[in-house]
Amino acid sequence: MKLGLFACAAVAGACAFAAAPATEKKIDDLLKRMTLEEKVGQLVQIGSGDFASGDVEKGPLDSRVANAVARGEAGLLISCCGIRKYNQLQKLAVEESRLGIPIMLGHDVIHGCRTVAPIPLGLSCAWDEELWRGLAETLAAEARTRGIDWTFAPMLDVSRDARWGRIAECAGQDPFLASRYAVAMVRGFQGDNPADGRHVAACLKHYVGYGACEGGRDYNTVELSDDTLRNVYLPPFEAGVRAGALSVMPAFHVMNGVPCSANPYLLRDTLRGRFGFEGLTVSDWGSIGELVPPRHGVYANLADAAAGALAAGMDVDMMSDAYRKHLAGKVKIGVVGAAALDEAVRHVLRVKFALGLFEHPYADEKLLGKLDLEKHAEQMRVAARKSVVLLKNEKRVLPLKKGARVVLMGELGDNPTEMLGTWQTWNVPGENATLLAGLKADGVDVVYAPCYTVTGAVDAAAVVAAATNADVVVATFGELCGPNVSMNGENTSRADVGLPGEQDKVVRALRAAGKPFVAVLFNGRPLAIPELAEACDALVEAWNPGSSGGWGVADVMTGVAEPTGRLTVDFPHKTGECPLYYNRLQTGRPWVEGNMWTTRYIDAPSPGKSLFPFGFGLAYVSFGYANEKVSVEGDKVVFTADVTNLGGRAGEEVVQVYVRDVVACVSRPRRELKGWRRLELAGGETKTARIEVPVSALGFWHAGRRVPGEGEFRAWIAPDSDRGRELSFTIGGNGK
Ligand code: NOJ
Repeated sequence: MKLGLFACAAVAGACAFAAAPATEKKIDDLLKRMTLEEKVGQLVQIGSGDFASGDVEKGPLDSRVANAVARGEAGLLISCCGIRKYNQLQKLAVEESRLGIPIMLGHDVIHGCRTVAPIPLGLSCAWDEELWRGLAETLAAEARTRGIDWTFAPMLDVSRDARWGRIAECAGQDPFLASRYAVAMVRGFQGDNPADGRHVAACLKHYVGYGACEGGRDYNTVELSDDTLRNVYLPPFEAGVRAGALSVMPAFHVMNGVPCSANPYLLRDTLRGRFGFEGLTVSDWGSIGELVPPRHGVYANLADAAAGALAAGMDVDMMSDAYRKHLAGKVKIGVVGAAALDEAVRHVLRVKFALGLFEHPYADEKLLGKLDLEKHAEQMRVAARKSVVLLKNEKRVLPLKKGARVVLMGELGDNPTEMLGTWQTWNVPGENATLLAGLKADGVDVVYAPCYTVTGAVDAAAVVAAATNADVVVATFGELCGPNVSMNGENTSRADVGLPGEQDKVVRALRAAGKPFVAVLFNGRPLAIPELAEACDALVEAWNPGSSGGWGVADVMTGVAEPTGRLTVDFPHKTGECPLYYNRLQTGRPWVEGNMWTTRYIDAPSPGKSLFPFGFGLAYVSFGYANEKVSVEGDKVVFTADVTNLGGRAGEEVVQVYVRDVVACVSRPRRELKGWRRLELAGGETKTARIEVPVSALGFWHAGRRVPGEGEFRAWIAPDSDRGRELSFTIGGNGK
């Protein structure tokens, strides 16, 4: 990392953000000159006046916003108002407010702006840090063309529950993988120097445990043991902080009775105390206002909520109006200490300095014309390819044979807005590639027969008739994610994670039609689709693949690109199996097929068998594993395996390392991912995968302390979380 604005504290190869002494002096100086109201203003985030995704560059400034900025009453804005208005507002802040402190504009740039990448759940299936980082750089560059300084991403909630709609926004169910994703995204968004005009401040959210909401229902209560919180939900946040993230957004929910928005244990003891976070914390939308009855009910009124949230460590009030209305009053009567207020303001100013806003407050309006959108679209195409997971391929129906007559079915086969996924910003639908466009671009002889929609009635006879002239049927299935109906993303929990509507009827009709049948899924969560998985010949999990999605998915289906994605979530057979995750505890009676006294459902195959397990994904070739070995070398454990491409064409394997601590002071998961290596292999080629795991990574948290991993371990160097030859190694005693 280039220094200058940052002082770096290197921790495990990462670099937590810490303001440099020279910056701290400038902040001291400002704090001395600021009035109480001006200080509060730095903690207030209001809407920029434009929430529309239409042509935000047009129209006048919102006078309410302009006045607040000019008076220094709103130091932070949210939502995209366009670069021209951003600069006008910035001018008011810099030239008309008394101290000239610049504003900072935040917006949800989660997986796309003008060009849109696959949803994060899809991206996570690429298991590719370079890809993630590069995409975040591109998103940052596009965000900058609208004056955006700060994105509310990456979303780092580990989720084990397919019912939760926001699983679409996260990197899946594994803390280790999500931590690697966190680091890559933070580095991509912020770059080596967030002040270079091409990057934005990242925001780690939703801190923390949001993915564990009861029943998979959004905003719902979370009860987690401190051990599980530390071992499963906190690691991606710690990794993001250590990678230098400039901000963190506490979540909406109540954690063990205490709302995350006013939770000193999470905000002060853990985030600042243990992780050393020095950036700013920002509430989720209106969440300080939710602390009062009839909602969470931990403060009697908004004024007390403002005081309580600040005392707990919440620096910025996003859209509650609690700080704007009540904080100064609480300081005047001594309920909120002047030092606590200054501390929060310091955090905000630090981030503004880190972004270079004091030196270069204005956004470069020429940036828009300089964007290489074609290059971005190509990058999104590669991302879509890498996010695709091939779940089934019988009779080698894929890749599609040259010259085969393909009939493409379903409304998702040719709908440009349905490709994008949960966060859409200023995408231009006409520029998006649907699957139909992608198949045509790859030279497939394709006829589009929509036949059915996601939610409408299905005419099975029409489906069978449309299949008649096909050599291969490509049928699309899944969830809607467009601007009108959204079936994944925020507040879209589902009590039934099967195929929506009557899509099951399509499955039955196509089974009856008897043609080779490729199913392509466009969705934002693992779906319970045992019947579809059984009936089709090939199953392509395409997720919501983004603006170049149709091209990327078609590239994999035609063999222009190899399928290389691997699942980062388990797929259930039935909704009732949720939450379902590979890294579960064994129980006293681990599942054994056919043994009725081992943990099971009498009407579903899990937990012993997920429909598709974490880590799973096929290629067009198969891979052989041999000579799997593990050795303890000093402070690391070294895993090696010879992996052979058994096919006649190139392929890429994601070699995964899983570990189980056999005996510990508390029961430990049956397997935990500890590393992976991607191997590109020509047909017939063998390479040795070598994966090193620090011994320290075998430890875990218990009762507030880090327990070192010791004694006997099992390990698997494997293609997914269910397979692989069992190995053993020992840490300590004779083993080290
Ligand atoms: C609410 C969402 O929970 C959060 O993810 C988002 O960043 C904020 N709204 C701001 O739009």
